[in-house]
Amino acid sequence: MVEFSLPANSKINQNGKTWSAEAGAKRLKTFKVYRWNADDGKNPQMDSYQVDLDDCGPMVLDALIKIKNETDPTLTFRRSCREGVCGSCAMNIDGGNTLACTKGIDEVAGDIKVFPLPHLPVIKDLVPDLTNFYAQYASIEPWMQTETPTPSDRERLQSRDDRVKIDGLYECILCACCSTSCPSYWWNEERYLGPAVLLQAYRWVIDSRDEHTGERLDSLEDPFKLYRCHTIMNCTQTCPKGLNPAQAIGELKKMMVERKF
Ligand code: SF4
Ligand code: SF4
Ligand code: FES
Repeated sequence: MVEFSLPANSKINQNGKTWSAEAGAKRLKTFKVYRWNADDGKNPQMDSYQVDLDDCGPMVLDALIKIKNETDPTLTFRRSCREGVCGSCAMNIDGGNTLACTKGIDEVAGDIKVFPLPHLPVIKDLVPDLTNFYAQYASIEPWMQTETPTPSDRERLQSRDDRVKIDGLYECILCACCSTSCPSYWWNEERYLGPAVLLQAYRWVIDSRDEHTGERLDSLEDPFKLYRCHTIMNCTQTCPKGLNPAQAIGELKKMMVERKF
């Protein structure tokens, strides 16, 4: 019989270090955070940090920054803008992929579990390796491609109706929350482009100013790149920006069919 279990060195030690809040703290919240360091040769572990909410900002990222600044400087995570714009603080919080800087601590009852984005190699602690994700993004050539000469005296114009078509697409911050919540992407991440990159591909396909629509669709005509989406909808449910990658993928599939007739 096939045995489904993690290799011994991947099993998470649930009883890592515990860090208590300072004496006198009254409003305590415990953060259980995934820790792994390739250099120490140990299994991953869950460390527990008590945080005094009376002395902490309201978001999960505020707590992680407080832990790093005041308790444990070895805790490693990405962040930049702190306002849901850069996408770098994406992680798995309380069982869902989201942005730590826009996830309120008070949205989670009880202890808050924090893991790196799922199904990606981990570099350290909460930092996943996004090399493949970015290579896939580069593969769709995410820039405007034209044949007609650039107007010398003005921008390339677009009607209001055409401009509206990229609403719900240009707002994507490439946080990878959607792709790493997609079961099809988990099992085929080398070949299936995943919802984030496909939403970006659609963003350029639907832009009236781009003149390489046919070539873009040609490059998606592949059994794996696009058609591994089985409309499970995890991507749309998880997007912290409220976007709908599943719909964008559906539109791409529709265009693929329509251009055959
Ligand atoms: S579609 Fe949403 S979840 Fe996916 S990468 Fe863009 S912003 Fe992140
Ligand atoms: S709808 Fe498609 S892309 Fe989105 S989670 Fe499901 S399989 Fe993945
Ligand atoms: S820090 Fe930029 S999105 Fe969270």
